[in-house]
Amino acid sequence: MDKADAGGQAETAHITILRPDDWHLHLRDGGLLSGVLPESIRHFARALVMPNLQPPVVTARDALNYRKRIESALPPESGFSPLMTLYLTESTDPEDVAAAHGDGVITAVKLYPAGATTHSESGVREVHRVMPVLERMAGIGCPLCVHGEVPDSDVDVFDRESVFIENVLDPLRREIPDLRIVLEHVTTAEGVDYVGGGGDSLAATITVHHLLINRNHILAGGIRPHYYCLPVAKRERHRLALREAAVSGHPRFFLGTDSAPHCVADKETAKGCAGVFTATNAVPCVAQVFEDEGSLGTLEAFLSLNGAAFYGLPTNHSTITLTRQHEPASFPACIGTTAGPVVVFDPGIDIYWTVA
Ligand code: DOR
Ligand code: ZN
Repeated sequence: MDKADAGGQAETAHITILRPDDWHLHLRDGGLLSGVLPESIRHFARALVMPNLQPPVVTARDALNYRKRIESALPPESGFSPLMTLYLTESTDPEDVAAAHGDGVITAVKLYPAGATTHSESGVREVHRVMPVLERMAGIGCPLCVHGEVPDSDVDVFDRESVFIENVLDPLRREIPDLRIVLEHVTTAEGVDYVGGGGDSLAATITVHHLLINRNHILAGGIRPHYYCLPVAKRERHRLALREAAVSGHPRFFLGTDSAPHCVADKETAKGCAGVFTATNAVPCVAQVFEDEGSLGTLEAFLSLNGAAFYGLPTNHSTITLTRQHEPASFPACIGTTAGPVVVFDPGIDIYWTVA
């Protein structure tokens, strides 16, 4: 870091890192897609695009068509590559997955336990029914991204990740040890420990918002729907464990923003949608977390190196330069889309970093 230091005060500083990737992103479709896409391409070179559209992206043909819609919403020469995923259902054809992966149409397959989150109704009810697909994926090295929560109504919403790890993820890994798995948006200390000790075939994405908020931010002193997401933010000790994992440099933790836009009307209502929209300020917020943890040296690993290595992809060639300003940066409170306004994540702390 090129830093002019004076009297212990943080001064203007610049950090240049390889351009980051976002390993978990919701881009939606139509007016929301064209509204939110510019926010992600500003800082990210690639994003793993989630398939939970309505209807979901279930076949190679769906993924190809969705990729074309994203590409036609991109400005010319954006340099941005959407990496596609398939939505795993109990009728997914192993051969369709193998062909889509072999042809480079998809990068991964996403497992949503049915009923666990937004648009997960077509997801998996019984993991044993998708074993042939998962075995085929293990054979060809196609990674499985999992929404790691049980949807059971008798399991407390704050326990759904740890119960998933114990009852679903761990048995699955024992049955198919070669399957490469990403525990998406890990939110608990137990999840961090499980992934940290899990060996080379297991990784986790961490979101921006789970590094910055705990459940008090959502619930104490008034309910804040724009902090509501799934998995829901947990106690402070879990947030601290996530921060420790993110800054650790451990190669199997990397950024997946889970930036999930919903229009204001769908968030500020009696039964609001889950999702936090962080695409606009994700990279500056992560830089602030790493600075606050005294770990700017591992920022590039978390943002730009670890994910690509896990997915077996080359790192990006281009770079971004982050600048630490004297004054807090300002970000728009909301972005307009033709589908309606979308509220931008409020990190709740001053962010001093901007990207040139
Ligand atoms: O908060 C969330 N929003 N979690 C998910 O798993 C899905 C996402 C969405 O699509 O809105
Ligand atoms: Zn998601």
